[in-house]
Amino acid sequence: MKLLHIDSSVLGPHSVSRKVSSAIVNRLRQTTPALDVVYRDLTATPLSHLSGSHLTAAQGAAPSAEVQQDLAAGQAVLDEFLAADIIVLGAPMYNFTIPSQLKAWIDRILVAGKTFKYGPQGAEGLAGNKRAIVAISRGGFYGAGTPSAALEHLESYLRGVFGFIGIANPEFISADGVQVGPEHREKALAGALDAVTRLQAA
Ligand SMILES: Cc1cc2nc3c(=O)[nH]c(=O)nc-3n(C[C@H](O)[C@H](O)[C@H](O)COP(=O)(O)O)c2cc1C
Repeated sequence: MKLLHIDSSVLGPHSVSRKVSSAIVNRLRQTTPALDVVYRDLTATPLSHLSGSHLTAAQGAAPSAEVQQDLAAGQAVLDEFLAADIIVLGAPMYNFTIPSQLKAWIDRILVAGKTFKYGPQGAEGLAGNKRAIVAISRGGFYGAGTPSAALEHLESYLRGVFGFIGIANPEFISADGVQVGPEHREKALAGALDAVTRLQAA
């Protein structure tokens, strides 16, 4: 069984989402010792943003050497995703949504004919055989009824993205309110790590 572990926080060792995503992978390693884990750090090795020349080259135009390299990087990311049975994603909230590094990754895996297709009924996901577990970390609170609820574009966005490609029930483990204060940060992290221990085995 293959697991793709992705981190996208820019905060390195201070990152909460990295601690939680790492705990998720460790937990799944315990339950499935033969797990084949591939790790990708989207801030250590960022993907470039999509460009017009990338898109025209993908449609058959002769690419420059630079674009060729970019296409190869995108293909590697897509192949990695397609090969995985489980995706573990560390996803912090930056300015109410995902980091731009993570958006660049999503731009490489949402590919028509690979992870979704359009049919008579509209879009149809092609990656429904995968399990996705997302470690979310947010400075504030965004639950239903909170003043900031309308600004929650992290979990809701990722649910939408995974749903679009057929992963109907992504699992989320959240550490919320980590900027409220150090005590709250520790409490939120401990709560998330505790939730990790209750994850279903791989
Ligand atoms: C650039 C930046 C933007 C942030 N924007 C928000 C935000 O819009 N809402 C929020 O609740 N917290 C925000 N935060 C706080 C982070 O969500 C919080 O620190 C979280 O732990 C980040 O995850 P990480 O520790 O894995 O990087 C922001 C933090 C940074 C560094």
